[in-house]
Amino acid sequence: MEQYIMKGGNPLVGDVTISGAKNAAVAILPAALLINGTCTINNLPNISDVKIYCEILENLGAKIHWNSTNELTIDTRNIDTTEAPIDLTSKFRASYYIIGAMLGRKGEIEVGMPGGCKLGARPIDQHIKGFEALGANVDIGQGKIIAKAKKLKGASIYMDITSVGATINAMLAAVLAEGTTTIDNAAKEPHVVDVANFLNSMGAKIRGAGTDVIRIKGVEKFGDCQYSIIPDQIEAGTFMTAAVATKGDIMIKNVIPKHLEAISAKLIEIGAEVVEFDDAVRVSATKRLESTNIKTLPYPGFPTDMQPQMAVTLALSNGTSVISESIFENRFRYVDELTKMGATIQVDGRTAIISGVEGFTGADVHAPDLRAGAALVIAGLSAKGFTTVSDIGYIYRGYEQFEQKLKQLGGEIQLVNNEKEVAKFKLKIG
Ligand code: UD1
Repeated sequence: MEQYIMKGGNPLVGDVTISGAKNAAVAILPAALLINGTCTINNLPNISDVKIYCEILENLGAKIHWNSTNELTIDTRNIDTTEAPIDLTSKFRASYYIIGAMLGRKGEIEVGMPGGCKLGARPIDQHIKGFEALGANVDIGQGKIIAKAKKLKGASIYMDITSVGATINAMLAAVLAEGTTTIDNAAKEPHVVDVANFLNSMGAKIRGAGTDVIRIKGVEKFGDCQYSIIPDQIEAGTFMTAAVATKGDIMIKNVIPKHLEAISAKLIEIGAEVVEFDDAVRVSATKRLESTNIKTLPYPGFPTDMQPQMAVTLALSNGTSVISESIFENRFRYVDELTKMGATIQVDGRTAIISGVEGFTGADVHAPDLRAGAALVIAGLSAKGFTTVSDIGYIYRGYEQFEQKLKQLGGEIQLVNNEKEVAKFKLKIG
């Protein structure tokens, strides 16, 4: 029964350093399959999704050497199977990138249907549309996806929905295809740009990543490379809301402030202080904040992955706020948990109406998914009394050293494994 226990009430104060971006890492690791050589990846977040990805790649024949906690060298010269382990690939969503990468590398792949956080139906039709446009055949059945292509040929792909995953997958499959590919209505998220930069660093010819039209000129092969992953926009945003919800003052280092603009704008709007530096933001709040309305949107709009953390902040603010979730149909599963802590939130379909309360009280809650898990920890750190958050395996998927970073900021939080440890924590903290 691994869980976090915390006693809320301390304002989080101090410096925190943000890790590399999870959503870039889980695309860059499989992208290394395209090299048929070696590459060194730096600023890699040491999180469970990355570790599972490494296992998948090793199962395919890659050799991985960790040079340090956040850097590895991957040798993809001996990829000797086109069957990815189903138990591992069906564990998380981003395993779908194996398809694009292996179509490019071997013209064939069999993987389990991608799993991941349960935020709604999460179809992969746009991924398949991209693969098929490039000349692949895709069969789905019995929990597996089998994709094959004799030869991939450049094509025009129009995405009916702006999808991060489908955009990156189309890039992965197109970089070694013959001819030119155009992806229209492409996703513009920072990690889409980072993956394009990684592919370009090994010799791909991708232009326009970060705009809604990406053009890719296929090349014949890639060379070895070294690459450093961008900082995680969502981890940074999570600490920004943690500063505000606990009325603290945090200097958040190793960030790209431009990627945080939508989050900064909303925090400033409700009365928080956000000061930008070249590669840091300082976020603080000294008083109870005001309400606002938020609609989640593709980048540069407000990120859906920050929606639960922002809901926690608004649930403590003065007045009524409305959050509209436009990306996923079922992303308010944490509301019942937050209600146990005293939040007043009414959910109607994809809309949450939040009536701010003065404070939360501690409760035993469980994490329904990754970002909601982090949001509940922030709620616990701002609540009166003790809170436990269980199902924290979700949090490990995306946050490196979460508990340690929060502790360093003065948060009273600990990982516990049994009732005895819970009792010990309560006795110690008092
Ligand atoms: C990625 C992120 C996730 C983030 C999400 C939105 C990774 C590994 N995960 O997820 O953290 O919450 O972007 O910013 O990068 N859709 C379809 N058909 C498709 C693909 C998507 O209908 O083929 C829909 C989805 O159900 C969703 C919307 O499009 O409603 C956006 O999803 P998408 O951008 O693809 O998200 P993911 O790549 O799954």
